Amino acid sequence: MPLNPPNSSNATFLDDVLHGLGSQPKQMPPKYFYDAIGAELFTQICELEEYYPTRTEISILQKNATDIATKLGEQAMLIEYGSGSLDKVRILLDALSDPVALCAIDISAEQLKAASKEVQNAYPELEVLAVEADFTQVVPLPSPETSPKAHVAFFPGSTIGNFAPENARDFLAGISETIGVDGLLLIGVDLKKDASRLVAAYDDAKGVTAAFNLNLLQRINFELGGDFDLTLFRHIARYSKVNGRIEMHLESCTDQTVRIGDHAFDFEAGETIHTENSYKFSSDEFQALAQSAGFDHVQSWSDPEDLFSVMLFHVSSR
Ligand code: TRP
Repeated sequence: MPLNPPNSSNATFLDDVLHGLGSQPKQMPPKYFYDAIGAELFTQICELEEYYPTRTEISILQKNATDIATKLGEQAMLIEYGSGSLDKVRILLDALSDPVALCAIDISAEQLKAASKEVQNAYPELEVLAVEADFTQVVPLPSPETSPKAHVAFFPGSTIGNFAPENARDFLAGISETIGVDGLLLIGVDLKKDASRLVAAYDDAKGVTAAFNLNLLQRINFELGGDFDLTLFRHIARYSKVNGRIEMHLESCTDQTVRIGDHAFDFEAGETIHTENSYKFSSDEFQALAQSAGFDHVQSWSDPEDLFSVMLFHVSSR
């Protein structure tokens, strides 16, 4: 018996799942990873030994906080897309001169509420605006009480790599429109490197990333009345050099039929559901992408091993 039979509030989730499983090859939109359990598992991924991006990006931000803050200027409004635990933005808040507002945008309501409350308590002077939204759609910005001198879009975590290249361009172009002519973009980008290092980051020894990927099926079971047997699917991560991306899949271990309500989906042994991509960039490739979305490069900061890059752009005047 499903715990939660389908209802109108999860109609979009149901539509997207039926569409994804009905496609050939089967796929699923990654935004559904982030329910309360998924958001918690993702926080654990970020702490894994194999998952270097989070700690590398944090150390880049910490080492260069003063320099970055100078470039962002005073009385800035920060807008974080996919704000999660809101830990990274605190490094900026601590270094910035008189920031006026933080707009936190996230799809995970529970985490957004808890994290923005914590930041508000830690920075009582700051106006914290929490917006529960799917940032892959254009999100209109709320107006803060004090008008900021600059709008700074902050997009850490190399989440930009989770978009297909044409969608990444549209998304960045949308940001440039939202933040306007004096806008800045501070973005974290995972750099191309040895494939084995990349694969390990997405297929850790403890199986946390596997649990994160499989949670998608659990969520379908709970929220849409699916009957996925989680022991009959396994997590796969591989690096496609041609596409410059890590691909994540859930592979069916056997021939099987899965039901969601009245719908049935056949799987062959070895067939996969493609759940996520994580594109990797060279610094030049990313600058070209940002340029095509209306941004000029200002400066980049990296770690000694060149694993990760934090890049600053401003909206180009043309
Ligand atoms: N932006 C992160 C990345 O591409 C997201 C991520 C990390 C992720 N690990 C994952 C997404 C595992 C799905 C599954 O690195």
